[in-house]
Amino acid sequence: MIRDERIPSDELRRIDDEIRSDWSTGEDVDFEEAIAYHESLPASKRFADVLESADNPLLQPRAGVPRLDDQIELLEYLQDDGKADLLPTTIDSYTRDNEYGKAQEGLEKARETGEDTLNGFPAVNHGIEGCRELIEALDAPIEVRHGTPDARLLAAITFAGGFQSFEGGPISYNIPYTKRHGLEETIEKWQFVDRLAGAYTERGVRINREPFGPLTGTLVPPSIAIAIMIVEGQLAATQGVRSITLGYGQVGNVVQDVAALNALQKLGDEYLPDEVCVTTVFHEWMGGFPPDEARANGVISLGGMTAAIAQPDKVITKSPQEFQGVPTKEANASGLRTTRQVIDMAIEQNIDIDGIAEEQELIERETRCLMDTIFAHGDGDVVRGTIEAFDSGALDVPFAPSDSAKGAVLPARDDDGRVRIFEWADLEMDDDIKEIHKARLSQRADTEGREESFRMVADDVDAISDGKLIGRPQGKGGVGSAD
Ligand code: 5AD
Repeated sequence: MIRDERIPSDELRRIDDEIRSDWSTGEDVDFEEAIAYHESLPASKRFADVLESADNPLLQPRAGVPRLDDQIELLEYLQDDGKADLLPTTIDSYTRDNEYGKAQEGLEKARETGEDTLNGFPAVNHGIEGCRELIEALDAPIEVRHGTPDARLLAAITFAGGFQSFEGGPISYNIPYTKRHGLEETIEKWQFVDRLAGAYTERGVRINREPFGPLTGTLVPPSIAIAIMIVEGQLAATQGVRSITLGYGQVGNVVQDVAALNALQKLGDEYLPDEVCVTTVFHEWMGGFPPDEARANGVISLGGMTAAIAQPDKVITKSPQEFQGVPTKEANASGLRTTRQVIDMAIEQNIDIDGIAEEQELIERETRCLMDTIFAHGDGDVVRGTIEAFDSGALDVPFAPSDSAKGAVLPARDDDGRVRIFEWADLEMDDDIKEIHKARLSQRADTEGREESFRMVADDVDAISDGKLIGRPQGKGGVGSAD
């Protein structure tokens, strides 16, 4: 039975040897040599230092294509034309499924045809040498962004390849991404990833770790996301990680988003050990986007405005082509520039909005309820507690495809468009908090002259792509309905 304990160094070495034989490029990993390589990199490529010392929110897109030369060209474009502060390398789906043979076939086909036959950069197949060529070609620090439930080999190769930031975590890359892997299994695998990042950290190479905050990306109540971020931060800290970036996905109500980002930083600092430097990342809207690029730019701009007010350490930008999937490089850079324009215009305005403190207090109380139940479920052990709390439904994520979460809790927007909980299922929460949610949802039901129902939830899921925030029935309530 696994617990929240640091993996001993002999065990770290044993697992490392085992996973490196999963693909031929694993054999090239040499930890001592990798430390020397990181030490040779200029300060401008030290991800944690660049992120933690920035005065204003840093912008980072997503981007990954199969061929190395194309990836270099794409990142150069996003750096020079999009003025990205931090760069990504998004990993392809075969690698995320540990299907390195299929990734190799895709890569070879891409080399033959010049087409993007994979939806990302197969870093394991490119190996340490390919990764280093990429790191050396760009000026800005680069993060590995993926969605891999078992990311052990990917971490071993990319860390040795010079990357100093790695997205994901045992819950956030399980619950929204996979049915195949149990939670206990992904926690064990990510303990290795974090322990490896911790081993570099111990030697003075701080690897930044970034749990994936948006989870299912669909109306996730802030307190659920924040509790999971804190848990993943704690697990990483136990393994020796000292630079942790907690994430949160835009829900679209400015007051709630600013309150949530404030709460994320505050509770992160409070719950994580003092020796950890906690930063935050804000993801522009992760749900369905409007197909119309002009409207999509509106969604992106609202994200930029929210970031200007809340001032997270980093913003992950979207592109106006989000609706159609992977964007062109031009669209990707335009999402960066749109966000930059809004942030630069708004950031010095000292915008003061009523109600943020109150909403923040509510989010903090909710998060504490969830953290208390996690600790109670595990008799103080956060690993046991997380597994047991998901099992009982005391902790849950809406719309989770994974069997590891009940996915029984359902959110809906209130009359202001803040995400509240409509169906609590077995989620642990104080009764007076549930009453607050109930009252807010009932106010919306009155405005719309309909009962609260699953219909409301479904309408909300589609609302932003349909051009609104709240999924109101045609002609009921909201702006423009007073005739
Ligand atoms: N390049 C750019 N963006 C990507 N996404 C996924 N793969 C890539 C890639 N290779 C983006 C999607 C969506 C988010 C989940 O990730 O477009 O915005």
